[in-house]
Amino acid sequence: MEKQHIDTEFTTYTFAELPEIFQQLILKAQEQTQKAYAPYSHFAVGAAILLENGEVFAGSNQENAAYPSGLCAERVALFYANAQYPEVPVKALAVAAKVNGDFAATPVSPCGACRQVMLETETRFAQPITLLLHGKEQTYVFDSVTTLLPLSFTEANLKN
Ligand code: THU
Repeated sequence: MEKQHIDTEFTTYTFAELPEIFQQLILKAQEQTQKAYAPYSHFAVGAAILLENGEVFAGSNQENAAYPSGLCAERVALFYANAQYPEVPVKALAVAAKVNGDFAATPVSPCGACRQVMLETETRFAQPITLLLHGKEQTYVFDSVTTLLPLSFTEANLKN
């Protein structure tokens, strides 16, 4: 028996410390929370995507009375962007949330299904995505989705 450890790393920034291109993306994600359809949780999430070609796509969470039929903001935005530009890599993804009308103090942590979809996008384009998880107090910046999803299942596993 041998105990194993997995290290992961990310960087915390204040909003003012971030490069302007990322500040803009976060502002877009915040703006997008206004368009969330979240009548059940009242947790409004916005996600904004910067593509390699400079285009920006945004999405918000879309809930449903049949709860599992809803979808998180990150996947709405990613599927939307990938459907419009299937050949263009995703460069960065920003996420912001509003809880009962107030921006979340701590960064939102994407659910497992969203992490898996983000990872597929990274793998698909063979290019890391910069992930910006924004909270009022600080922003967590990840250089790749792999740091958020260690021991992940990818197409490589299908080939054994
Ligand atoms: N949600 C997101 O859209 N993104 C996340 O990262 C976390 C959760 C949504 C799903 C649901 O509509 C609501 O937030 C509460 O879970």
